[in-house]
Amino acid sequence: MARMPKFDVVSIEDLAIEEIERIFALADGFADALREGRPCDLAAGLIMATLFYEPSTRTRLSFESAMHRLGGSVISSADMQASSAAKGETLADTARVVAAYADLIVVRHPYDGAARVAAEYAGVPIINAGDGSREHPTQTLCDLYILRRKKGRLRGLTVALCGDLKFGRTVHSLIYALARFGANIVAAPFGGMDVPDYVLERLAAERNYRISTVTVDELKSQAGGLDALYLTPSGPHQMALFTGENPLDKLPSARPPTALDAFYVTRLQRERLAEKDRDGGAYVHFDARALRTSRAQQAVVMHPLPRTDELAYELDSDPRAVYFEQAAAGVPVRMALIAWLLERGQRAIAPLTAGEPPIRFKAEPTPRCANPACITRHESAYLRPRFRLARSANRALLALRCDYCERELRIEFVGHAKSHRYYRFDESLYGYVRQWIDEGSLAVFETVKQAEEGGYEPYRRGPQREVMNATEIATACVEIAAQIIADVADPTALALVGVVSRGAMLAIRMRELIERRTGVRPPFAALDVYGGDAAIHPIEPAGGFDIDGRTIVLVDDVINSGWTVQRAMTALWRNGRPAAVKLAVLIDRGHRALPIRPNYVGKRIPTARGDRVRVRLTVPAGEGEARRPVDRVVVYSMVDSMREPEAAS
Ligand code: NCD
Repeated sequence: MARMPKFDVVSIEDLAIEEIERIFALADGFADALREGRPCDLAAGLIMATLFYEPSTRTRLSFESAMHRLGGSVISSADMQASSAAKGETLADTARVVAAYADLIVVRHPYDGAARVAAEYAGVPIINAGDGSREHPTQTLCDLYILRRKKGRLRGLTVALCGDLKFGRTVHSLIYALARFGANIVAAPFGGMDVPDYVLERLAAERNYRISTVTVDELKSQAGGLDALYLTPSGPHQMALFTGENPLDKLPSARPPTALDAFYVTRLQRERLAEKDRDGGAYVHFDARALRTSRAQQAVVMHPLPRTDELAYELDSDPRAVYFEQAAAGVPVRMALIAWLLERGQRAIAPLTAGEPPIRFKAEPTPRCANPACITRHESAYLRPRFRLARSANRALLALRCDYCERELRIEFVGHAKSHRYYRFDESLYGYVRQWIDEGSLAVFETVKQAEEGGYEPYRRGPQREVMNATEIATACVEIAAQIIADVADPTALALVGVVSRGAMLAIRMRELIERRTGVRPPFAALDVYGGDAAIHPIEPAGGFDIDGRTIVLVDDVINSGWTVQRAMTALWRNGRPAAVKLAVLIDRGHRALPIRPNYVGKRIPTARGDRVRVRLTVPAGEGEARRPVDRVVVYSMVDSMREPEAAS
């Protein structure tokens, strides 16, 4: 019996051009065999498992048909809601378990990067049948196979991509492949649904390739008065994707097409949109008139299917409408992929893109991916976020790319875990950052506040002056507590939420003061604005409390731009609907970027923009521990020029 080598097809980039060519040659043979009714037993004795966490018609059934046609067999979990996933089993566990039942696993999953996780945990090959909005490599094999059959070549073709180019995973895989085959790409996104930056940046960095982006109106004129694409942008349309200092600007732009060879139309990926955006307004609509103009006369119309309203049924009878052929190609092309895997045997093939090695973050806090649909955000019990250095378009930010979903994380503050210093990133620090990565001592922070919460000190600072001492801080807490009591008619409806960590420490003090005055001990929670989805930690009562209908007093030490408060409000609103939210801060230092005004302020301190306000509070002493009270508020200036960080010397 043939053995399947462990070779995963997670991205279309996992396959070299020659390998894709070989798969197409095999597909030609299988197409002939299917037509002539010749049986095949290439995969006899092998089992393929299909794990579909999202709906599918074409992909799953054509994979299964392909495996049967090759003489193999199939076990399937077409609806993962009927599997242990419904009981909360992780993808990693499922992949590991199913790998013991099958020689090959085909997986579709709603989260970006899920196929990569399955590939890392399964001992058998994983084929990605669509992972969130990221990629769908085997659809691309079908697309390219048909496009080349219709046009005789791929190099030099001009393919217009229309519709939802942001969430359409088939489009992303297709773009990577077309770029490698030397085709020109014209992107005509539906309003706001542009090709994501991470795709464009990868194309630029790895292939020195740039796609041209046009509005649908421009596409109409490029196509020679093409008038059958209707589109009403639902948001402001971004014409020039690259502005300012973007290094992508330096790439040669694609030639305007003289003729269009294919329209690749996609449906609006409603399932990836927030409820309120699902309507989509007037989406792309493509009908027979699109093919009437001279420049588009030779164009084929493609679609990965399923279609919704974007393709008129009248097109179906036109020989240039090839979408059902794309779907039909699913069987021979997927047979060819399986046969190619078998043929490939154990030959070791170097990975296509060696690139940067992943960064091991030994230092806390470890960054997490900013993409809410990233698999690392949903399976965090065992998955550690993993990043690589990426090329940043902005020199003042350090760019990291998530290994799973490929989204970029842009970092403003970096730290050196050994010296416990932090720095505002700029390009001059790049060499040090690389060195810190090598020694496992890079820390990254979203804000100065986060760095300081982690015990990091600024690299350099000016002299500090005290603006509040322990007595003044205590008095301010008493005054704020008194104002809260005066404001809130019913103290039993009150709850305090303190921002970790100094806001929470202040909230504890205020709660005690409130209890002493009213006899009511309000519930209390700590809120970690960097804590991701489980940001609110109820402290008392330990089981938590309902925030619906309550008056929440949010407590923080310093208010500056207001971003922290905004994040805290978002976290609160995710957890319920309070009757009112009031804000108490010890210090208001000005420089607001958001229209937020605290209800209770201990002291207003005018500061310069580059100043830092540091609140130091005594941690309640533990058993047998006597600590000198060090409560104070100090202000010092941050020195931003960090050309020669001492930390790295
Ligand atoms: C696509 C998918 O699932 O990404 N369907 C398919 O596999 N042919 C496209 C889509 O759902 O729009």
